[in-house]
Amino acid sequence: MLNEPKFLKCTICRTMIETLSPQCCDELTCCGRPMELIKPNELITLEEKHLPVIKRGDGCIIVCVGRLLHPMSREHNIMWVEAKTKYSHQRVNLKTGDDPIVTFRIPDRVPVSVYAYCNLHGLWKSSL
Ligand SMILES: [Fe+2]
Repeated sequence: MLNEPKFLKCTICRTMIETLSPQCCDELTCCGRPMELIKPNELITLEEKHLPVIKRGDGCIIVCVGRLLHPMSREHNIMWVEAKTKYSHQRVNLKTGDDPIVTFRIPDRVPVSVYAYCNLHGLWKSSL
């Protein structure tokens, strides 16, 4: 079982944080208010362009954000993609114009959770 991270966001300044342990931080505040827990995959109708698709390679995984690739415009984009295993925690920040396709070094057969964050449609997660 992976120690899944928690993602929290300030509803005022939009600061986002990620916890490294799941039992931490239900009471964090920012701008004088409790931070909001961000749950993945809340907009099921948008899965096609947001849910990470994970394929295993030789000692790596290749992640495509969306079965139909997500747009990467200035107004609407995937800000980062992250891969978490029992042994590692890797994140790639993307920028406008990048393809939302990322390769992570992950040993074969190691369970992995992948998170992707869309600036408009929030957090998305797949596991393999
Ligand atoms: Fe989106």
